[in-house]
Amino acid sequence: MRAPDPINLHDYERLAAEQLPAGPLGYYAGGAGDERTLRGNEAAWASRPLRPRVLVDVGEVSAATSVLGIPVSMPVLVAPTALHRMAHPAGEQATARAAAAAGTLLTLSTLATSTPAEVAAAAPGAPRWFQLYVTRDRSISRALVDQAVEHGFDGIVVTVDAPVPGRRERDHRTGFRVPADLDMPAVTAALGHSGGVSVEDFFSVVDPAVTWADLEQFASDCEVPVIVKGIQTAEDAALACEHGAAAVVVSNHGGRQLDGVAPTAEVLPEVVDAVADRLEVYVDGGIRRGTDVLTALALGARAVLIGRPVLWGLVVAGEDGVRHVLETMRDEVESALALLGARSPEEVVRAHVR
Ligand SMILES: Cc1cc2nc3c(=O)[nH]c(=O)nc-3n(C[C@H](O)[C@H](O)[C@H](O)COP(=O)(O)O)c2cc1C
Repeated sequence: MRAPDPINLHDYERLAAEQLPAGPLGYYAGGAGDERTLRGNEAAWASRPLRPRVLVDVGEVSAATSVLGIPVSMPVLVAPTALHRMAHPAGEQATARAAAAAGTLLTLSTLATSTPAEVAAAAPGAPRWFQLYVTRDRSISRALVDQAVEHGFDGIVVTVDAPVPGRRERDHRTGFRVPADLDMPAVTAALGHSGGVSVEDFFSVVDPAVTWADLEQFASDCEVPVIVKGIQTAEDAALACEHGAAAVVVSNHGGRQLDGVAPTAEVLPEVVDAVADRLEVYVDGGIRRGTDVLTALALGARAVLIGRPVLWGLVVAGEDGVRHVLETMRDEVESALALLGARSPEEVVRAHVR
C-alpha cells in the first residue's frame, strides 16, 4: 500500500527521518547538549495560545507582507542552513527555485554547497539574503560578501551566536563527517578541501574573536542592509541597533548552540519591547505551523524563518518538496489569519495572543 502524501511539516520530518542515513539525520535534526532548547523551541509556541476575534470581515485574506521593503508572499522566510546537497543532489539551487516559486525569500548559508553566483543564476530576480560567518581569513568572507552583493543579494545576515559550534552529541555518536563528494566552497577556500571534514573542522574557519566594533565597521562598509541573527536579549538587540543593524533575528540557532537557553517564543517579547520601534524583528526556532507564525506576529515579529522543515522537504522531494513545505505554510498562515479575525499579517496585534 502506498504511504499517504505529506500534508503538513510534521509529515515531512517523519518521511525525511525514514530516508536519511544516521549521520546526516543526526546533523540536521540534532541540537546541543541535552537538547533542552531544541525541544523547548517547538513546545513554547503552544504555550502562548491565540485570542481570536470574531465577526471581522475576512472575505479577503492575504499572507503577503514585506521584509526590509522586499515584498514576500508570506511572513515565512527560509533560514540559512548548511549542506543542502547532502539532502538532495540539486542542493541550494533547488531550494532557491522553490523559494522563488513560493514567493518568499531564501537565506543562503556561508556553509552552503553552492556559491552565491550559482544560487543567483538558479532563481534570477528572486529575493535573497546571504548569511555570513566572518572567517579568520577575512579575505574569504570578504570575497563571499562581494560575490553576494554583485549577484543581487538584498541583505547580509551576520550570524553572531556561533563563535564555536555547540556540543552536538549526535554528531559525535554517529561520527558525522561531510560526505567526501560534497564541496562547501567557503570551507574549501580556507582548508583546501571540505569533503570528509567534521563539524569542528568546518567551524574552525569561523573567527571566534569578532566583536560589536567589527559589526559596526562591516555594516558601515556594506552596500546592502545588515541583519544580525542570534539575538537573545534586550541588551544585545539594543547594541545591534546602535551598531548599524537594519534588523535582528531572535534565534538560538535551532537549539544547536548554547543548550539550556530559553525558547525563542519566550525571548521574543523582550527583544520586541527593546527595539521593534527602531528596526524589524524576526524570529526562528521550532516554527512548524501557521498558528506558530501568528503567535510570533502577535508577539511583535515582522516575519519568521524556518530551518529544518526546508531540509525535510528537500530530502523527501527535492525542489517540489521544498515548494510544497513553503506553500503548506502559506496556506496554514492564510487559514489561521481568517480564523483569528485578521486580513493580513499587519493586522495581527499583541491582543491576539494570551
Ligand atoms: C542543519 C542545520 C544547519 C544550520 N546551518 C546554519 C548556518 O550555516 N548558518 C546559520 O546562521 N544558521 C544555521 N542554522 C540555524 C538556522 O538558520 C535556524 O536558526 C534554525 O534552524 C531555526 O530552527 P528550526 O530548524 O527549528 O526552524 C542551521 C540549522 C540546522 C538545523
